[in-house]
Amino acid sequence: MWIVLQRGMQIMTIRLDGKALAAKRKKEIACKVKALSVKPGLAVLLVGEDPASRIYVNSKRKDCEECGFYSEEYTLPAEIQETALLDLIRELGAREDIHGILVQLPLPGELNEKRILEAIPPEKDVDGFHAANMGRLMLGQEGFLPCTPAGVMELLEEHQIELEGKHCVVVGRSNIVGKPMALLLLQRNATVTICHSRTRGLETLCRQADVLVTAVGRVGLITPEMVRDGAVIVDVAMNRNAEGKLCGDCLPEVYEKASAFTPVPGGVGPMTRAVLMENTMKACLMRQK
Ligand code: GUN
Repeated sequence: MWIVLQRGMQIMTIRLDGKALAAKRKKEIACKVKALSVKPGLAVLLVGEDPASRIYVNSKRKDCEECGFYSEEYTLPAEIQETALLDLIRELGAREDIHGILVQLPLPGELNEKRILEAIPPEKDVDGFHAANMGRLMLGQEGFLPCTPAGVMELLEEHQIELEGKHCVVVGRSNIVGKPMALLLLQRNATVTICHSRTRGLETLCRQADVLVTAVGRVGLITPEMVRDGAVIVDVAMNRNAEGKLCGDCLPEVYEKASAFTPVPGGVGPMTRAVLMENTMKACLMRQK
């Protein structure tokens, strides 16, 4: 794909292939695991029957197999008592063979997400959602980084996408993606704007972006008119369009204006999972020290 810039100059659009990079990362991890005397162990907890969450959890099990990890999966009823879930997390927290604990979100019903995530020991919080790890990220200290924004950073780095002094616009302010994404971009000396549902003039702000990261979950939110020629587009969303096809927040015509873009599927999603494996490996190595 080629884009035409002003004065008729053409540059090629780079497809930021997260699937390929994630496969490379998982191979590297599998090689390192073979040399270890202990297998990294990941426990994944799925509460309720959300079909999308079930697919994500199945993928994580496969990733663990590919990397040579030990994994345990707990499928729990949506009606589970919060105390029972907290007890299970504490039990897993005390186990020597489990280095990472992940509770798949969203949680159903009345379960208190904050209390549950805070029950995971920070040193096993491979999702990077615990307040201790979020706080470390805020302060620029070493800790576990949330997998999706960390995966985006790895993908941008792999393709040598310059961030220093660039205007990065993040659409979405979730704790999982938008907020940590903005902090990681800031750490690389980018100038960051965070947009959200109450933002006025979204279109004007997006048009100013050198790098546009969108993580809202709305088909067609980002149209070609909202994007500058040559911008880098990172589409974190995973939606289904009217034909039932997987797509991000950007209309396909957006990619034609970009200098680089992440495809959906095959862009950010596989990188999220690769970082989860990296975090689990790191949690295991930390225990051995
Ligand atoms: N739900 C959507 N994304 C994630 C994620 O990265 N981790 C967990 N635990 N749940 C999610």
